[in-house]
Amino acid sequence: MAAARKSIHGEWSSRWVFILAATGSAVGLGSIWRFPYVTGENGGGAFVLIYLLCVAAVGLPIMMAETLIGRRGRQSPINSLKTLAKEEGLSSNWQFLGWLGVLAGFIVLSFYSVVAGWAVAYIFYVGGGAFAEASVDMSGAQFDALTGSAWRMLGWHSLFMLTTVVIVARGVKGGLEQAVKWLMPALFVLLVVVVGYAMSIGDVGAAIDYLFTPDFSQVTRSSVLAALGQAFFSLSLGMGAIMIYGSYLPASASIPKTIGLVAICDTLVALLAGLAIFPLVFGFGLEPGSGAGLVFVSLTIAFGHMPGGQVFGALFFALLSVAALTSAISLLEPIAAWLVEAMHWSRRRASSVAGLGAWLLGVGSLLSFNYWSHIKPFGRNFFEWSEFLSTTVMLPVGGLLVATFAGWRMSRASTLDELGLPPGVFYSAWRFLVRIVAPLGVLVILLNSLDVIG
Ligand code: TRP
Repeated sequence: MAAARKSIHGEWSSRWVFILAATGSAVGLGSIWRFPYVTGENGGGAFVLIYLLCVAAVGLPIMMAETLIGRRGRQSPINSLKTLAKEEGLSSNWQFLGWLGVLAGFIVLSFYSVVAGWAVAYIFYVGGGAFAEASVDMSGAQFDALTGSAWRMLGWHSLFMLTTVVIVARGVKGGLEQAVKWLMPALFVLLVVVVGYAMSIGDVGAAIDYLFTPDFSQVTRSSVLAALGQAFFSLSLGMGAIMIYGSYLPASASIPKTIGLVAICDTLVALLAGLAIFPLVFGFGLEPGSGAGLVFVSLTIAFGHMPGGQVFGALFFALLSVAALTSAISLLEPIAAWLVEAMHWSRRRASSVAGLGAWLLGVGSLLSFNYWSHIKPFGRNFFEWSEFLSTTVMLPVGGLLVATFAGWRMSRASTLDELGLPPGVFYSAWRFLVRIVAPLGVLVILLNSLDVIG
């Protein structure tokens, strides 16, 4: 398929490693922390259904587009787009799409590491019995004590970022591949244990009913937007993470089959996370729509009152931390790879410098929970601005441009060749989705978020 180009950074040992790595990138705070509470805020089953539709009609085609661009270019997103644009006789300005992605990834990584730091901290808090018999107020106070202390958060944020840098510094085969080969099976085991336990002790019937019985009276315009935004974030789209992973994909692998599996795994994990969390939420009479604190404030109350909750709670936060780590490495990798290509730095140096930059930006986010909480230009603090600019603005713009590039600007022959599909109904379906449905869907989210600003 792919031209004879080779990546200077290496290649995954097989397509299975790519599947582990891309699933590791996709499954993270987005699927385990964010998906349940966004579902809770948007009323449950109908939202889940719309989310599934967004994954299939918008997420999947764009994910395939990112992978094919990466594998054909075999470089960091910036240089892959530059190379392909030249090859297709297009403007060299397409490399700015790569820049946008690298920048977005940098910003996402900065606040991602702060939230992931909470998850790591909670392994020890819950495991140490801090929530035994906790009331709602006590649990809230525990969370406020963490976010109120800049030093504590700095410690956890630094630890998480350092771990990410160490893995990326060791390279594609020696670092990323080793990490996902060990962490992904661990993640799977943890997930099964936690779901099994939650279902045995909580109210499974209510959870299943909540997640899978659609009540369309709950659906508003903003829940459709939330579903599409969640699909983007959860599948790691719009910033070159999947693109760079695609650039290490062996030429013989079929992109549609491989990506199909990744999207299915990510979706299953999100649903399983729902099945781990909602039985406890309903079983312990908690509020499903309690927002971003659902996992840290509400769920911990349940852990504090159940038999063995100390151990299973700690396991749950270990699960969340591992999932976040395999996502964070995919956020650092595009920037590190670009620094290696452009500056001819060693991988160690490239990942350390990029990690340090993201760490510093993250300090701004963690301060916005305490010392800087009153600084809110245009109504958002530093953390909220980082999240808003990257997730709500840059990722959809990136996705829209990826779809445009692969659907309208690359030649039919190139995408056909790279996807490795025979010309026929599957290819035509992909092309239709990536040319029409995905860009329209994304445009709708964007216009609406601009509406929200203005
Ligand atoms: N998908 C990850 C999650 O669900 C987060 C993530 C990793 C991401 N890489 C990304 C989000 C790239 C957007 C773009 O937690």
